[in-house]
Amino acid sequence: MTTDPSDVPPIDDWNRLLEGKVAVVTGGGADGIGGAIAELFAAHGAVVEIAEIDADRAAATVDAITAAGGSGRAHLVDVRTEEGVAELRSGVLDEHGGIDVLVNNVGDYRPLVRFADSGPESWEAMYRINLWHLFAVTQAFLDPMIERGGGSIVNVHSVEGMRGFPGEPVYASMKAAAAHFTTSLAAGYGRKGIRANGIGVDLTQTPQVDYVTGYEDHAEMWEAWAPVGRLGWPADQARVALFLASDMSAYVTGHNVPVDGGTKAGGGWFFSPGAKRFVNRPKTL
Ligand SMILES: NC(=O)c1ccc[n+]([C@@H]2O[C@H](COP(=O)([O-])OP(=O)(O)OC[C@H]3O[C@@H](n4cnc5c(N)ncnc54)[C@H](O)[C@@H]3O)[C@@H](O)[C@H]2O)c1
Repeated sequence: MTTDPSDVPPIDDWNRLLEGKVAVVTGGGADGIGGAIAELFAAHGAVVEIAEIDADRAAATVDAITAAGGSGRAHLVDVRTEEGVAELRSGVLDEHGGIDVLVNNVGDYRPLVRFADSGPESWEAMYRINLWHLFAVTQAFLDPMIERGGGSIVNVHSVEGMRGFPGEPVYASMKAAAAHFTTSLAAGYGRKGIRANGIGVDLTQTPQVDYVTGYEDHAEMWEAWAPVGRLGWPADQARVALFLASDMSAYVTGHNVPVDGGTKAGGGWFFSPGAKRFVNRPKTL
């Protein structure tokens, strides 16, 4: 390492921030956050390798990338399993030898089991889908990234891992661990050329989390629900992922950015005396 200002990586084309890079995106199926990330990365010149459990959603993302003139492939794997991760690793490395960007995006709060009703089986399921694969997929690609000269890891977790989530503390704990894994990885591997940052998602319309259905008559309430006053979309998340994946953020590592329309800053959860539970979108003030 030097103290030379030319260490700042040059950006030759601001419209193609990932030109020539190989990016792996887990859960890159269409209409979700991973799908938007895969499409935006491909539009910025990356060859995108998608790990997806749902064949239709995977094909839809690859079709969208191809139609836009980009390059993408899908690997139909379950990243909760050792076999799935091994298959992804060999499929990608056999083709490219290494990778430059890894986005660990898979995660799910479902089935939502209240803590009082939860137990070892539901705890294990929350661990597998929200944390285990971050360890497994990151380990699978870390050395190939280092051997290639370094790279960027982006972990998509949740704002619920960055604040108290009264509704489901086990899920929230897994997301908090994902955020801390990110920070610790960054501290340990920065000198080997690896950056790691996280995104704390909230209020983003996807197949998993539908913020519209049942709330059609309450659009004006967004001013109360989110400081920016609107629903979030996968593209909102993808833009931050692009920043963190590219040399735009060359001097940023170990951080977890809430991409939440300001809900973490503004609180976000309200106790509803009527329902006698915490809600994030009360229908009345
Ligand atoms: N949407 C939100 O508001 C929100 C809020 C907080 C956190 N998040 C987090 O953001 C990430 C993306 O969420 P989303 O809303 O886009 O979800 P989504 O369910 O719409 O998309 C997830 C994608 O991952 C795929 N997938 C699921 N399990 C898989 C597995 N085992 N192996 C491979 N692929 C698998 C799904 O088929 C899907 O295409 C998750 O980590 C989620 O926990 C989302």
